[in-house]
Amino acid sequence: MRVSDFLTIRDFTSQELLHLLDLARDIKATPAQYQDALKGKTLALIFEKPSLRTRVSFDVGIQQLGGFSVYLSPAEINLGKRESVFDVAKNLERMVQGIMIRTFGHDIVEKMAEYASVPVINGLTDFSHPCQAMADFLTIREHKGTLEGLKLAYVGDSNNVSNSLMFAAARFGVHVAIGSPAGYQPTADVTAWTRDEGRKTGSTLLITTDPAEAVEDADVVYTDTWASMGQEAEAYARKAVFRPYQVNAHLFRKAKKDALFMHCLPAHRGDEVTDDVIDSPHSVVFDEAENRLHAQKAIMLEMMK
Ligand code: CP
Ligand code: NVA
Repeated sequence: MRVSDFLTIRDFTSQELLHLLDLARDIKATPAQYQDALKGKTLALIFEKPSLRTRVSFDVGIQQLGGFSVYLSPAEINLGKRESVFDVAKNLERMVQGIMIRTFGHDIVEKMAEYASVPVINGLTDFSHPCQAMADFLTIREHKGTLEGLKLAYVGDSNNVSNSLMFAAARFGVHVAIGSPAGYQPTADVTAWTRDEGRKTGSTLLITTDPAEAVEDADVVYTDTWASMGQEAEAYARKAVFRPYQVNAHLFRKAKKDALFMHCLPAHRGDEVTDDVIDSPHSVVFDEAENRLHAQKAIMLEMMK
């Protein structure tokens, strides 16, 4: 790996990302082989937003590699208010061998990585969720056997999760179709990067306001919350905008017969997805959750070893 911080999928080549997926597959198959891989190393877990999966998977993951974690809640650090990002980085690098951070602005994780001499792993920002995308493509490859040439449809709000899925799809040669309402589509920067880099792997990008067009013949149908953490005040207004983008049985039927349903979770049943889809045999949402553990063990290993 040329880079020792895991901030965005964009920093990594297709070969590096495929290596991480292969390593994650191996760790999942033979976890005992890696039980001392990060022996005695400590990872700080900085959370400025709530979490179930990210917290548990990093905490359990570092322990399974022989290391330890220290959980730092939003109230504890009060990043940027009680203490600057610079000072937090300079303190933590004296005591831990890695920092995982979940926060708001992406610039905060970039600054943390710039100031800290130890590896920094992005556990979600307003811009991206790269660990989620790695777990998701690990999941897709497990179920489909391959990635190249598949079509992933993402329906709903273009957000941190869809950004990282777009970047990873471009790197893995997966076609992407985004079905989002006007005003909630990927930014020009994310779109241009995905199109340009996707050309190198044969990945194409469709952005449409029509959810049915996005889902047509898809191998994977993915959705996420209509209001992300930090957008709670907009949640009610967003429900009306996104209602036509609900992934229900009617919409899901437009995908391929063996399509997977995916969601990073937490899900809002009855909003972005209905029970008959998320609880159907097509749904692999708990495989995604489990694969956070294996994918992040691979990421921690490569960054912290
Ligand atoms: N998918 C995900 O990151 O879940 P948490 O917010 O619970 O960590
Ligand atoms: N887009 C969601 C993802 C949660 C894991 C959020 O940022 O709240």
